[in-house]
Amino acid sequence: MRCIEIAQPGGPDVLRLIERPDPVPGDGEVLIDVAAAGVNRPDVLQRLGSYPPPPGASDLPGLEVAGRVAAVGPGVTTLRPGDAVCALVSGGGYATSCVAPAAQCLPVPGRLDMVAAAAIPETFFTVWTNVFERGALKPGETALFHGGSSGIGTTAIQLASARGARVLATAGSDEKCQACEALGAEHAINYRTTDFVAAVQKYTGGRGVDLVLDIMGGSYVPRNLAALALDGRLVQIGLLEGEPMAAVDLRRILGRRLTLTGSTLRARSVEEKGRIADALRREVWPLLETGRVKPLVAATFPLAEAAAAHRLMESSTHIGKIVLVP
Ligand SMILES: NC(=O)c1ccc[n+]([C@@H]2O[C@H](COP(=O)([O-])OP(=O)(O)OC[C@H]3O[C@@H](n4cnc5c(N)ncnc54)[C@H](OP(=O)(O)O)[C@@H]3O)[C@@H](O)[C@H]2O)c1
Repeated sequence: MRCIEIAQPGGPDVLRLIERPDPVPGDGEVLIDVAAAGVNRPDVLQRLGSYPPPPGASDLPGLEVAGRVAAVGPGVTTLRPGDAVCALVSGGGYATSCVAPAAQCLPVPGRLDMVAAAAIPETFFTVWTNVFERGALKPGETALFHGGSSGIGTTAIQLASARGARVLATAGSDEKCQACEALGAEHAINYRTTDFVAAVQKYTGGRGVDLVLDIMGGSYVPRNLAALALDGRLVQIGLLEGEPMAAVDLRRILGRRLTLTGSTLRARSVEEKGRIADALRREVWPLLETGRVKPLVAATFPLAEAAAAHRLMESSTHIGKIVLVP
């Protein structure tokens, strides 16, 4: 197969097109002929050397693919060669062939092509488990999503509004704010010109939001807590500010009965990811099938130009997802 390896930690140019033998599907796994592979911010962090693959995962970058099943490993009864799938993987997506646990494969929604399908797994698994399971967002509640124009943000806005929640979002430009509102956010806050805590309090009549999904950490943590309503939940899924420590006024957590939680997806077991896949199939696939929710693809690049895809991601000028096409 052709694939992209990280020659050494560093800038985008360390992404190198090479050839390797096709991976072999093990128990419960399938081999996928990759038609498209999603690019995610964690791939950038892996390239920089700050997000190593978990034990047993491929050293190649790439957390999601779409394509056709080429072969099935022992014990796989749910998929057959030729099936069109999109899959969450713990590495190895930047390649023409990739193995995935069958439990982490989902059918390509009828309306979508392979490029759009490849843009689904990483953000939909992450948003589902963090916003609706861990964060327990319910219809009628209000959520604040930081990085509203990111892959994660564009997914969160659409899913939460489709499920009857009210959505506020932050983004770094007026153009990005407009995109967030077009996707279903009632109000998007340009955090470069407006203090988001004040904007949230103003917009919610001083009540605050029920849930904050945060990708920044650091100085955002106390501000997120200040934006929460009574019984509010802060779910931490990223640390883009680069600061793992945060100062928290515990009196606010006690007095306002707040929950501070967070998670990462990649290191979870196949069983846990399979359980999330089952929930997505039941709760979210109907929304993708009808077109109520759809992945927003900002740009595609040939596999060989993975470095250019990373440069675009690091420029943060994209709105939605970036996809590689082998
Ligand atoms: N925990 C998990 O399981 C999990 C899974 C997937 C992703 N994540 C995390 O979710 C976040 C978003 O991922 P993604 O793939 O959706 O990323 P993405 O599409 O690249 O979007 C990231 C966005 O964050 C905003 N941003 C604000 N401050 C930033 C900074 N200091 N550096 C970089 N970006 C900054 C940028 O938009 P603005 O112009 O609005 O600033 C940027 O477009 C990342 O932190 C990622 O690690 C977590």
